[in-house]
Amino acid sequence: MRTVRLARPDDLDAFRQAARGLIAAGAAPETVSWLEGDEDALPFGDPVPDDTTAPPLSVPKRFHELAEPVICHRDPERFALLYIALWRLGHGERSLLQDATHPLVRRLERMAGAVDRDEHRMTAFLRFRRIETDGAERFIAWFEPEHHILRRAAPFFIGRFAAMRWSILTPDGSLHWDGGTLDIGPGMRREDAPDEDSLEEAWRRYYAATFNPARANPAMLRSEMPKRYWRNLPEAALITELLDGAPARTQAMIAATAEPPRKAIPAPGLHEPGPAGTLAGLASEIAACRRCPLHGPATQPVLGEGPPDAPVVFLGEQPGDQEDLAGRVFVGPAGQLFDRALAEAGIDRTRIYVTNAVKHFKYQVRGKRRIHQRPNSGEVEACRWWMERELSLLRPRLAVALGATAARSLSGHAGPLSALRGRPLRFRDDLPGLVTVHPSYLLRLPDPAAQEAEHRRFVAELRQVAALVPEIRRG
Ligand code: URA
Repeated sequence: MRTVRLARPDDLDAFRQAARGLIAAGAAPETVSWLEGDEDALPFGDPVPDDTTAPPLSVPKRFHELAEPVICHRDPERFALLYIALWRLGHGERSLLQDATHPLVRRLERMAGAVDRDEHRMTAFLRFRRIETDGAERFIAWFEPEHHILRRAAPFFIGRFAAMRWSILTPDGSLHWDGGTLDIGPGMRREDAPDEDSLEEAWRRYYAATFNPARANPAMLRSEMPKRYWRNLPEAALITELLDGAPARTQAMIAATAEPPRKAIPAPGLHEPGPAGTLAGLASEIAACRRCPLHGPATQPVLGEGPPDAPVVFLGEQPGDQEDLAGRVFVGPAGQLFDRALAEAGIDRTRIYVTNAVKHFKYQVRGKRRIHQRPNSGEVEACRWWMERELSLLRPRLAVALGATAARSLSGHAGPLSALRGRPLRFRDDLPGLVTVHPSYLLRLPDPAAQEAEHRRFVAELRQVAALVPEIRRG
């Protein structure tokens, strides 16, 4: 019998190294036991063969995709399960992982899903508290992950809060970022994190404004935002209060709604005059727009799409080449990426309204191609007239700016996106808002690893939107 002890509970490299040596030595799974933790870090029993002499294992890509999250699961059997899978893959069951009904595969898939969910919750429900030490600002958050996800989640927080100094404390370990270097420290206690700060009130007001009493669904709310995270969420103090008050507020909203139900938006591309005060009416006004020169070269204005009572509006920059030809928002490459990210975040595109800050395609002709040109501030300002009216008709509970042009149009802020990203904001007439990147930014990143990291961050931000407004979720 061989015993392998892995010092760190989420160390995939150490697991791989040990597994390679074991497989090369022909050690069947039932002859190996796996332990974690660094007390008595030396293996006992038969020595584990040294990997350096072992040939690299050739395993299907799916194994790596599963092993990466599974190693972070808290189940002490995870190493043994992964080793059984590895062993079988190399002993006549090469397509094992394609059999989704196989009990081992199902168990590994479930573990991977649980770890992914835990990480998503960490990115959505972790809240920093601001402290000042020696005149310098630092942000501290306390979080209790279900699994060993701290290192896995670190790139998300570094990317998102790159310019801030922060620490994330958990019972298993802590992350400390000083704006340039990440330190990984020991586990901490809840009392080590501060309790209240001025950001709390901002989050509370924000949540109260995005909460819709008519759609309040306590069971869904609890599954989206499980109770174990409430302790760390400033806005959670409001949840019970808002849920209790929901029936009365719904009645008040119905009584106060004097206007008839809003009409559906016209089919894309049809711009016959619609009644004033409706999206169809607005569409026909935009079709005649001469507020800036962009209408000249464009094929047509491209209007927003989605249910007129959508609770969330996503605002892009301007139609691209394919949108200009099709007369529909986000149908080209950026739109396809956006669709994928929405699906990964569990958002149903038919439940959101998607539109642009500028309604006409701005481009430069090069050879046979029409190359996208970013709209200038005058063009954004001219089109803000339409965007404002569109929002007044839609009356969403939350607006999400995709990229700098949309952020500028909604907030008036012309600085870098990083100054607004990831914070609860208020746009125009107190409309709660969030800012994230434009999907085409992800398409432009040359480095696949950066693209992957940024894509995950984008999806996490979309998940945050879904957590705030659960009605837009699929199913
Ligand atoms: N980019 C946008 O901002 N909007 C679209 O509709 C397409 C690409």
